[in-house]
Amino acid sequence: MTTSFDNAAQVLTPPEPGLRYLRSDRASEMTLEAGGVTVEHGRIAALEPTADADIHVDASGCALVPGLVDCHTHVPFAGWRAEEYEQKVTGVPYEQIARAGGGIASSARALRETPDETVLAQAQKLAGEMLRSGTTTFECKSGYGLSTAGELRALQLATELSGIVSQVTTRTALLAHAVPDGYTTATWMDEVEKMLPEALEHASALDIFVESIAFGLDDLDRIGRLASANGVRLRAHVEQFSTMRSVPVGLKHNARSLDHLSVIHPDDIAPLASSECAAVLLPGAEFMGAEATAPARDLIDAGAILVLATDGNPGTSPIFSLPLIVGLGVRRYGLSTREALLGVTLNAAYVLYLQSDLGSIELDKRADFVLLDCPAEHIAYRLGRNPVAATFVGGEPAYVRPDAAWRIMER
Ligand code: NIG
Ligand code: FE
Repeated sequence: MTTSFDNAAQVLTPPEPGLRYLRSDRASEMTLEAGGVTVEHGRIAALEPTADADIHVDASGCALVPGLVDCHTHVPFAGWRAEEYEQKVTGVPYEQIARAGGGIASSARALRETPDETVLAQAQKLAGEMLRSGTTTFECKSGYGLSTAGELRALQLATELSGIVSQVTTRTALLAHAVPDGYTTATWMDEVEKMLPEALEHASALDIFVESIAFGLDDLDRIGRLASANGVRLRAHVEQFSTMRSVPVGLKHNARSLDHLSVIHPDDIAPLASSECAAVLLPGAEFMGAEATAPARDLIDAGAILVLATDGNPGTSPIFSLPLIVGLGVRRYGLSTREALLGVTLNAAYVLYLQSDLGSIELDKRADFVLLDCPAEHIAYRLGRNPVAATFVGGEPAYVRPDAAWRIMER
């Protein structure tokens, strides 16, 4: 079956085919020009429309961009923590909330007490919301298990989720998120090492939260060695609240990405930016938590592979809309539209190791697209409005907003 996307006002394409990533100081080389695309059997077959296609999509007045890739979420989880947010904004310190049983521990408790079907139903509903906001690929993490059985259950649920959502998903084992009761960081890391073979039946990356209230540089070093020994990618939550100097340690272990970076040490910017480790910025968490602003422009000027993600989780960032994240990123970091879009497409796919299959509009890649009802520049400008008219996964319409249904015409 052939589908032709006709007459788009803008199509976002990379400057050359076959890129694993594009350093963000080259984002201006991406083109956003009028055109069309032909899809055959779910793959991009031509970077132009075809007159005798089986299905025509009228993209007039629209921007056609790659399906959005959310490379950092904490799905699946159970319930929400709205009461904590209200406490936070009205001035209750995080430590006090945590001491009263809030924070990661409260999501761990909720997960433990919630049956599998309910956890999966919540995650599936969220995936539907994400699809309506243009997300065609997302990462799942464990991390709210806080016990061996709990972490393995979370990964198992994430694997089950992949079978019941429209999107491509990947799984990351965030086995060192908070130190469970009764453990020190070191004794918990012993448990992590023991559960690793089973965890890696589900996950293709390891993750850790390095922070004064969580794990330290020794633990990052240890998980880095475990990742290399097991041939999986290392990712890490670093420099979110305290400048711990995690970046050199992560780079030593060839981390695929280092995430948050709101308080990265100035001396660590150049080494990170010249490496092949992506800098994943999370403006939703920064905004919701009134955190410091990551030095995105310095990272870009130094040549970083910059990425934006939602960090979707019930605590620091209950935001699952990448268009909103693009808007926050553009405003907070002073990004251009192309820099922000690169960060939620090709460079985000690179973080998940999916860059050869998706993340950009180029020949032979999966036909995952978002049809925006406006110029791409409006995503950030009309902050908070959902610009998605339709989302296509493997060339098929996975979501069509009712007022855009007329655009899809079968012969
Ligand atoms: O990425 N930084 C640590 N972990 C999560 C938040 C977890 C939570 O509060 O539930 C994050 O922001
Ligand atoms: Fe996170």
